[in-house]
Amino acid sequence: MIDLRSDTVSRPTAAMRRAMAEAPVGDDVYGDDPTVAALEAIVAGLLSKEAAVFMPTGTMTNQIGLRIHGEPGDTLLLADGAHIYVSEGGAASAYSGLTLRAVPTDRGVFTAEALEAAIGVVHPFVPVELASPPRIVSVENTSNAGGGRIWPIERIRDVAAVAKAAGLMCHLDGARIWNASAASGISVGEYAAPFDTVSVCFSKGLGAPVGSCLAGTRVAMVRARRFRQQIGGSMRQGGIIAAGALHALEHHRGRLVEDHVNARAFADGIAGLPGIALDPATVETNIIRFRVTSMPVATFAARLRDQGVLLLPSGRDGIRALTHLDVSRADIDRAIAAVASILDRPGSS
Ligand SMILES: Cc1ncc(COP(=O)(O)O)c(C=O)c1O
Repeated sequence: MIDLRSDTVSRPTAAMRRAMAEAPVGDDVYGDDPTVAALEAIVAGLLSKEAAVFMPTGTMTNQIGLRIHGEPGDTLLLADGAHIYVSEGGAASAYSGLTLRAVPTDRGVFTAEALEAAIGVVHPFVPVELASPPRIVSVENTSNAGGGRIWPIERIRDVAAVAKAAGLMCHLDGARIWNASAASGISVGEYAAPFDTVSVCFSKGLGAPVGSCLAGTRVAMVRARRFRQQIGGSMRQGGIIAAGALHALEHHRGRLVEDHVNARAFADGIAGLPGIALDPATVETNIIRFRVTSMPVATFAARLRDQGVLLLPSGRDGIRALTHLDVSRADIDRAIAAVASILDRPGSS
């Protein structure tokens, strides 16, 4: 099977498994695990933050980032299709009691003006206590729903300036910040700079089986450790999985551009086919989103599965494909041929 459903499906390499098996470990709840400590120090350094905390998932690092900044009844502003908004089980409301306010975007990226409008102006005749106070803005870079779109650095700075002027805290969902950096040449530290907290994942394009870090000030990370404990996210010999993340950072960051080239090749290869609506220019990193106009997406995905290619139906007529460590250029060529073959099939429209 050529599995293009997500960049989370890749399996750890033999070298990564070896690094994990041989990792020095201790009880991280007592602060004794040297591999977890090494990972946290490296990630804090890369992101130019004072400290970082290792957690099992990006959902947890996002949600604890939000928990640090907000209290029940506060408002979180974020992109209309953000992962935190649509794919974290309502956790921001359930766990932190936040009210969510969507900011309209162009493929996952909003403007400073749109944020300003969404923050709103309290009417002079309305008591301020009536409103849920805007408290946090979250930016997702790259944007998953936006087809892996990279936030332009100037846009990030403008949005953060508006947020700071309004007294908001800034959180970055940087699950794929590694991809943004690999594609743009802008360091992850530069991307992270305007944010109070930053969540990064090792289990997406970097190819580790498990793990994310939250980074921020030392004080904020002390709170993060407490909240991590509160929801059962502290791990004992966590070094075994932290070693996979360390190996991924060292050996797999440099190859992310291959995934981007493969994603663009896939987009170029299927864009002209009848029944496919896709602009390859929208493919900036490792995510391809397109529409199928000639048959229901469930039929499209099922026929492709029969050809040995897995893609993810997304919405009414959308499909998502991602490239990753376990997808070669030859796989991409086979996937393009498979798409062409099912579209050509008599009766497929
Ligand atoms: C943009 C983004 N943020 C956060 C997450 C959550 O990561 P996890 O699956 O590790 O909880 C994902 C998962 O795919 C994601 O795409």
